[in-house]
Amino acid sequence: MYPILEARILADKIYLMVVKAPRIAKNCQPGEFVIVKLDEKGERIPLTICDYDREQGNITIVFQTVGASTERMAGLKTGDSFCDVVGPLGNPSDFVKEDLEVLKNKKYLFVAGGVGTAPVYPQVKWLKEHGIEADVIMGSKTKDLLILEEEMKAVSGTLYVTTDDGSYERKGMVTEVIKDLVQNQGKKYDVCVAIGPMIMMKFVCLLTKELGLPTIVSLNPIMVDGTGMCGACRVTVGDKVKFACVDGPEFDGHAVNFDEAMKRQQMYRTEEGRALLKLREGDTHHGGCGQCSDN
Ligand code: NAD
Ligand code: FES
Repeated sequence: MYPILEARILADKIYLMVVKAPRIAKNCQPGEFVIVKLDEKGERIPLTICDYDREQGNITIVFQTVGASTERMAGLKTGDSFCDVVGPLGNPSDFVKEDLEVLKNKKYLFVAGGVGTAPVYPQVKWLKEHGIEADVIMGSKTKDLLILEEEMKAVSGTLYVTTDDGSYERKGMVTEVIKDLVQNQGKKYDVCVAIGPMIMMKFVCLLTKELGLPTIVSLNPIMVDGTGMCGACRVTVGDKVKFACVDGPEFDGHAVNFDEAMKRQQMYRTEEGRALLKLREGDTHHGGCGQCSDN
């Protein structure tokens, strides 16, 4: 069992939990994720690791209620436990493996949209701990939905906050801030990392392609097994079929087929849609061996 040491609400429908998971806390890196289960028969819910404390053996997860399982999860209190927390899964962010001296010469721009702020935070924090200050743009629909602002301010170089409705700081979407920084203020960046809703990542990538700014995105499609076998998280990157759980979750944003990924997400929600995808995608429907006919 994995006890919940702290449970609190960050904004409407957005929750933070600190969970005792010493083995994961010891081994995880920014960019990786976990799959949690409430009970033996519960749905498997993939969540990015928002923070970790190796000494205390804790990880922090942030989630938004989007269905029955996450609603049930939101009802858990300090002292309750998860039946299972599997991880760390996926691959760490590329910069974790880069030569630190090379990395120190790169200027990073992070773009965090809504709940996507949670996975951005450990990346910016890791860079700060290694002597690198990255600029961060945080966007949310309204002031009330903004999360982790103080935490992000503490680890970023310059933090730019924008709200769609102008209820706090700048008014407008994250793409407008990118344009302002690069085109009007002449800021130079070597890498952009954009994490948030799929539609945001699509439009950030269209813009950064125009600006010639390499961009990494973190995809969080529906996941079932998280081990590359079920095919739920299939995406097309360039001309290749990839599975976000084992090949990602981070990919070259300029090569991701976002329209297909968004359409697939919708279809995967229904039994009929899943059957159609299986038919259309044939052998490439599954990850791993690609031959699991009974999935
Ligand atoms: P949201 O809809 O409030 O959007 C957040 C910000 O993204 C907006 O404030 C805006 O600045 C920007 N944005 C949205 N649409 C845009 C567009 N068309 N062009 C340019 N910018 C745009 O975000 P939310 O409600 O917090 O998002 C929830 C979604 O995020 C869920 O679908 C969830 O699956 C996804 N999510 C993704 C990750 C990930 O790892 N990629 C992590 C957590 C949540
Ligand atoms: Fe990725 Fe199943 S969740 S293949």
